[in-house]
Amino acid sequence: MKSLKPKVLRFESLPSTNTELARQASEGAGEGLSIVADEQTAGRGRLQRAWSSPRGAGLYFSILLQPAIAVDRWPLIVFVAALAVGDALSEACEVDTDIKWPNDLLSGERKICGILAETVETPSGRAVIVGIGINLTADAYPVELSRVATSVAEASVRAPERETVLAALLRALSRWYSLLHEVDGRERIVAAWASRSSYADGKSVQVANGDEVWQGITRGVESDGALRLETTEGMKIVRAGDVSIRAT
Ligand code: BTN
Repeated sequence: MKSLKPKVLRFESLPSTNTELARQASEGAGEGLSIVADEQTAGRGRLQRAWSSPRGAGLYFSILLQPAIAVDRWPLIVFVAALAVGDALSEACEVDTDIKWPNDLLSGERKICGILAETVETPSGRAVIVGIGINLTADAYPVELSRVATSVAEASVRAPERETVLAALLRALSRWYSLLHEVDGRERIVAAWASRSSYADGKSVQVANGDEVWQGITRGVESDGALRLETTEGMKIVRAGDVSIRAT
């Protein structure tokens, strides 16, 4: 069994915790190194989008992982992260979440957390940086996103304590990451992910991948986390990459 021993470095301000961790990884930082910043001045999201990161309004966190599983199963790392965030928000804040494929956490159908996974080359081989941004208060996101975004402060009766959420997140990440390395762990992670996602099966969605747009009904996920989408042209297998998805 592989166990994760996170070591957390804290910064007041960084351009991006993912970028700083990538720099440290390229210089030989080890698995489990984690970075938290009070604010990010150039926070990054999926699809080359910016991630708004004002001081004290969110948990801006990145962790370096080097999974000892086949590279074609590495997409499951974002499932591990999404499951861990779900556990942490439930345990620390009593917030129930839904997972929008592949790895947005929603509360009341609005986004409360985003996850950005990036592979990096390190002196000890390929690794992955998992960046997690949790909106703790409504100041975390721009006001024009208020119809589609939310925060722990809005979703919970408990005041969001960043350190409590972080501690719960580290515990949950360690649990799910160990499971990823167990016999039948991958299947159990996919099953757990599917049981927590209203997007996993029977959801009417539109998927955009560059110039291609597919309309269809979700029909579960493959063993590597790819989404099965039933369309009028047959079953499509959608891999995360540059894909965006929305309910229709
Ligand atoms: C998304 O687009 O949903 C992913 C957002 C990921 C944001 C986090 S905040 C910590 C880490 N550092 C970054 O620059 N991005 C990720």
